[in-house]
Amino acid sequence: MSDDHTKTAPALRARAPSTRYIEVISPGRPSPFRAREGVVRMGRDPGNEVVIEDPFVSRVHVEVRIFPHGVEVVDLDTKNGTHYQGARIRELAVKEEVTLTLGKQVTVRVRVGDDGASSRTVRDEAELVGASAPMQRLRGALAKLAPSALTVLIEGETGTGKEVVARSLHTLSGRAHKPFVVFDCAAVSPTLIASELFGHVRGAYTGAVGASDGAFRAAHGGTLFLDEIGELPLELQPALLRALEARQVKPVGGDQYVKVDVRVVAATNRTLEDEVEAGRFRKDLLFRLAVGRVKVPSLRARADDVPVLASHFAASFGAALAPPVLAALAARPWPGNVRELRNAVERAVMLAGGSGSVVTSLDDMDDDLDDAPAVAVAPAEALHGAMRSGEGLRLLEMSFQDAKQAAVETFEREYLVRLFEASGYNLSEAGRRSGVDRRYLRELFKKHDIDLAAMRAKKP
Ligand SMILES: Nc1ncnc2c1ncn2[C@@H]1O[C@H](COP(=O)(O)OP(=O)(O)OP(=O)(O)O)[C@@H](O)[C@H]1O
Ligand SMILES: [Mg+2]
Repeated sequence: MSDDHTKTAPALRARAPSTRYIEVISPGRPSPFRAREGVVRMGRDPGNEVVIEDPFVSRVHVEVRIFPHGVEVVDLDTKNGTHYQGARIRELAVKEEVTLTLGKQVTVRVRVGDDGASSRTVRDEAELVGASAPMQRLRGALAKLAPSALTVLIEGETGTGKEVVARSLHTLSGRAHKPFVVFDCAAVSPTLIASELFGHVRGAYTGAVGASDGAFRAAHGGTLFLDEIGELPLELQPALLRALEARQVKPVGGDQYVKVDVRVVAATNRTLEDEVEAGRFRKDLLFRLAVGRVKVPSLRARADDVPVLASHFAASFGAALAPPVLAALAARPWPGNVRELRNAVERAVMLAGGSGSVVTSLDDMDDDLDDAPAVAVAPAEALHGAMRSGEGLRLLEMSFQDAKQAAVETFEREYLVRLFEASGYNLSEAGRRSGVDRRYLRELFKKHDIDLAAMRAKKP
């Protein structure tokens, strides 16, 4: 299968056509780069498959090598390095998904998927695991909504699986063989959103060298997933409304509308009614988006699913969880929902020795979960404190590079939490104060699992 978003990278051809693909999600690209075989290079150089414009990224920074037996990421001896979970890596095998930091500040995700099973039940990212009553109701709703072209609004807390739900709406629809394009409204700088969504004509603005299609046209025939729709700036909302109503878009700098056949699915972890109330979201757009509406339940509301999901994730890492471990997991609260559970299982499997192992205790994982640094101390104090406490001992057991990286991570988290508080829980303000681009800031909050909505809800 090949479409606009499934590109084949050169060299290293696999022997048999593979149903596996890799996806690279990087800043500045509205939709992931996909490849099924070969090598995907990322770096500053325009010749890379994934171009990353950042001064701390090398010309050719990393390669994702796709072999018949697996996928690996290789750092090409770069100056500022490639980091995974705080550690500088040279090579890393990718099983499902990894989040990497290239250079000093660029976050990219590399994800391995498989769509060879299109004739079987929905698989992989589109597979919604869980048999609890709330999940069965959700599945029922999806089965009804999927075949239609109705716009659907997916609501739910962070990490509940909104993107998985969006993908399954696509996979269960008649558009499954056409592109599924993800557009993250929070990840694109507000000045570029219009052109990334609707495209632009040649020379539309300084820096617009060639013409570009934009996400709507890229998704032609398929599904456009507008993630974090609550982050869409107010001034761009009328243009989106027009696109949804008239099914046509006007590229930036152009004077003609272009027809598009796109099914739109949007997601948010905010309550859009509240956003409307606060004057940040247009009511007419909310009505237009929420023609179909589904709510993805929190993991608290379906504790029965915890063991099933945990076993599913363990299996995806080639490992298994012993029954007492499953019971202990089910007894925990999961404020970060399925994503937090998945990350916890991944760590537990890693600590137990990786693929092929059976996790028999959660001791190691407990350490890890209690690791979150206290937020009540200033960054410098936190570091001093860490050096003096038990954590300090751990720092001293690491190499200097690793210890430094760990300290930086601690500082980063601390800084972000305080910055967000000091900025009145407003992301744009936090961006202005810190001089960090909003979309990168957003990535940083995600990386540290800082739930902005939860912080806002708890604000004094
Ligand atoms: N029901 C499920 N079955 C299997 N995997 C799931 C399920 N729900 C979520 N996941 C996995 O959990 C992780 C988080 O899911 P997803 O990205 O869809 O959440 P989200 O609601 O979009 O989160 P956010 O609001 O933070 O963007 C992903 O790795 C996803 O594959
Ligand atoms: Mg999401």
